[in-house]
Amino acid sequence: MLSSKLPHIGTTIFTVMSRMATEEGAINLSQGFPGFGADPVLLEMASKYIKEGYNQYPPMAGIVGLRQKLAEKTQLTQGYFPDYETEVTIVSGATEAIYAAVSAVIRLGDEVIVLEPAYDSYEPAITLNGGVPIYVALNSGDFSVDWEKVKAAITLKTRMIMVNSPHNPSGYVWSKDDVDRLAELIRDRDIFVVSDEVYEHITFDGKKHHSIGAHSELREKTFVCGSFGKTFHVTGWKIGYCLAPPNLTLEFRKIHQYLTFTTVTPIQYALAEYLEVPERYLSIPNFYQKKRDLFAKGLAETALKFIPSNGSFFQLASYGHLSQIGDRELAERMTRKLKVACIPISVFYSDRRDDKIIRFCFAKNDSELLEGLERIKKLSEIL
Ligand SMILES: Cc1ncc(COP(=O)(O)O)c(C=O)c1O
Repeated sequence: MLSSKLPHIGTTIFTVMSRMATEEGAINLSQGFPGFGADPVLLEMASKYIKEGYNQYPPMAGIVGLRQKLAEKTQLTQGYFPDYETEVTIVSGATEAIYAAVSAVIRLGDEVIVLEPAYDSYEPAITLNGGVPIYVALNSGDFSVDWEKVKAAITLKTRMIMVNSPHNPSGYVWSKDDVDRLAELIRDRDIFVVSDEVYEHITFDGKKHHSIGAHSELREKTFVCGSFGKTFHVTGWKIGYCLAPPNLTLEFRKIHQYLTFTTVTPIQYALAEYLEVPERYLSIPNFYQKKRDLFAKGLAETALKFIPSNGSFFQLASYGHLSQIGDRELAERMTRKLKVACIPISVFYSDRRDDKIIRFCFAKNDSELLEGLERIKKLSEIL
């Protein structure tokens, strides 16, 4: 008999809600993927490289051109220049980067601090490597970090901390002060950082994304995990990267080499060419700001309460002042009766704590967002 290594894990809520949205013909504001296409120029490039025969294994760490362009992007946006030979690795999505980074460090019994609500891939990566997740709740309200609580959670067994800014699901964007606090907390300690920065290009109201890699002291102990899928509206391409200093990259690549070995060749060439024009990623905050504004304006006309998102393509909204039904129940009712799907936030907590908050993804076409908002206005009819 096979005894499960992950007995508590079922089908993710993202799959459940998306399936329900399809069954019900609902507007799907649940799962975090863009409802619109990528730039046709990028698609043309991908098809060109496939047709021209760039279809065999690329180098294990990724093609040089893409690693170089990524290093240039990092210089331009974060002010440091990772060495493409020893510090940049192209992988099959940020999910792989996170898994490989955790695997490279964590051994049986090591503790890993996870700030929650947290993206769902962190915990299985830790558990499968014999680690023990230690959960620290973010502040309720704005989901900022309670640094005193993080400090209290550190023990002699702590080997890693997982951080995520801009944050899924809350949209909280770390300040420079947050980064400095982290540096101070793990100074002179053998603690590594996995920094999930997949929404690095999606920040609003002039807020800047402070990569953990941009902090010279933290850079020495950090795996920065990014996603081209999120940045360029091609989540199905599953291509991302890891930036880490040479000693960490060496170990990271040992895992990557046997996890996927490498990542789809023509897509790497297409992205390398696409990255030649910085405006293509520098324009992304503006593009999403319009969607955030449109969605927030409409949401203000509903009965839900919210703080406008600062980053990522998610908007949280609370309903505790309207009803005490569970957030899963509400998400299901909204999908089945209002025909608009969202994600309950309790699933992002290890203890399934229910603060009566739901998450919407606004990376959708404007018409879909407007129609979704009209439906959310009728919320009181189903409570
Ligand atoms: C916070 C966070 N990290 C990682 C990922 C996964 O990124 P990728 O599709 O590049 O594996 C997601 C996708 O939803 C995410 O929201």
